[in-house]
Amino acid sequence: MQFEPGDRRRVLPRHLRPAPAPEVFSYSIRPARTGDLPYIREIYNHFVSNSVVTLDERRSSIPYWREKFALLGRLGLPFLVAVSPAGVVLGYALAQPWAGRNAYRYTVEDSIYLGPGAGGKGLGAVLLQALIDACEQLGIREMVAVISDTKADASIRLHTRLGFEEAGRMARVGHKFGRELGTVYMKRALRPKRRRKIFGLQ
Ligand SMILES: CC(C)(COP(=O)(O)OP(=O)(O)OC[C@H]1O[C@@H](n2cnc3c(N)ncnc32)[C@H](O)[C@@H]1OP(=O)(O)O)[C@@H](O)C(=O)NCCC(=O)NCCS
Repeated sequence: MQFEPGDRRRVLPRHLRPAPAPEVFSYSIRPARTGDLPYIREIYNHFVSNSVVTLDERRSSIPYWREKFALLGRLGLPFLVAVSPAGVVLGYALAQPWAGRNAYRYTVEDSIYLGPGAGGKGLGAVLLQALIDACEQLGIREMVAVISDTKADASIRLHTRLGFEEAGRMARVGHKFGRELGTVYMKRALRPKRRRKIFGLQ
């Protein structure tokens, strides 16, 4: 196709246009703040309503997240967010007490959720590694992940990549969207960098 002077068509056909510069996926990781909680709630509730990666069926409320934020703060446990340069919360990761008995004080359960568009780009690995590092600094010795046995391949692969090993399975312990669901337990030994300070309930 040739363009003559004065030809009004100035836009190249799509297949001749230069490829756009690849989009840079940038973010920073920092401790969660109370102002992040509405966004964290939305991210989590998306999976409550649309997936079986969490066995929660009820959408979470802001008071629920305020309480969790305050509890983790009292226990000195990490609650991290990944935020875009514009300040949008892209995802979060937190470590919470495992099984709620004092003698489990050196063990935590992780929870990690990314918002729409943030998955599959390596952010999960960076966020989970940051959570592991923070727990090691606190003197935590073991991290456990409790993962749905259905449609949670990304989580299982993510935890495997970061050194977690399967520690057991329980089939048919859950029921959501009319289907039976089980849980996969994964665990990783941490390398605590100091003695764990015992906070609050622990
Ligand atoms: C699980 C989650 C945090 C992983 O984060 P992510 O940034 O998407 O993960 P990564 O891009 O680092 O990829 C991790 C691995 O999962 C794989 N993966 C990513 N998306 C996948 C998908 N939809 N299906 C299967 N595997 C997938 C990647 O290929 C990668 O595998 P590899 O290490 O063998 O290459 C994220 O996908 C998410 O928020 N999922 C929904 C919520 C959830 O399941 N949370 C965990 C609850 S236990």
